[in-house]
Amino acid sequence: MPSVTEIRSKAGSEPVTMLTAYDAPTARLVEEAGMDIILVGDSMGNAALGYESTLPVTVDEVASHTGAVARAAEEALVVADMPFLSFGVETAESVHNCGRMLKEAGADAVKLESGPHTVDLTERLVQLGIPVMAHLGLTPQRVNELGGYTRQGTTEEDAAEILDLARAHEDAGAFSLVLEHVPANLAAHITDELDIPTIGIGAGPDCDGQVLVFHDAVGLSENPPPFATAFGNAREELQHALDGYVGAVESGTFPAEEHSHVEEDLDELY
Ligand code: KIV
Repeated sequence: MPSVTEIRSKAGSEPVTMLTAYDAPTARLVEEAGMDIILVGDSMGNAALGYESTLPVTVDEVASHTGAVARAAEEALVVADMPFLSFGVETAESVHNCGRMLKEAGADAVKLESGPHTVDLTERLVQLGIPVMAHLGLTPQRVNELGGYTRQGTTEEDAAEILDLARAHEDAGAFSLVLEHVPANLAAHITDELDIPTIGIGAGPDCDGQVLVFHDAVGLSENPPPFATAFGNAREELQHALDGYVGAVESGTFPAEEHSHVEEDLDELY
């Protein structure tokens, strides 16, 4: 498994690969593809749990799904994404919630959607031995305050604020930084400025690594964001398999002889 130190040392040298997973079989597939990091994203809210946004996702849900992923993942670094309001309100409660991900669920690190309110918390968590991945730019937990899943860092002032926060989180001890939906030239500049790896999503090609949501990457999402690409058509493949199953049951071709067993002794009874 790459340690957070190894991930940190990839900055500027080797690309960091990260994808989300929310369950054990998916984690195994993601790992077989050679992913460096599996993020148990709070995107599970939309992608897997049927919520309209990530806001309703609970600490228990993230802990449960992180446990499933961590039990399956032998090679990749497992990062638990802390849900809305589970951190940043009270320090003790934040530490308790983040600590659960390592102690109970088996995560290697946590990710915090970051802002001015997470600089001191990041330092505290790192002091306590909880590695932190920071996340700036579009932070979907603030969707109501932002007015939508909009591009961030598009004005000089906003870009400067993101850069300042990126530096502050690096200084606080974060081992990496996700940059979401920011201009490619801003992400390139931040990547140059920091020693820790930047991991982009909708942030152009010059970050140290890239992350996508599993369902977007494999072609399962109905409404993927504009910056995602599907590298397959899993929806079509799954639909094909499911149509085949329904058709076979309805036509009586499944189960066939090879799927059934007959006990000779029972012939006398029935
Ligand atoms: O929740 C998530 O999956 C994320 C990634 C998109 C970075 O935060």
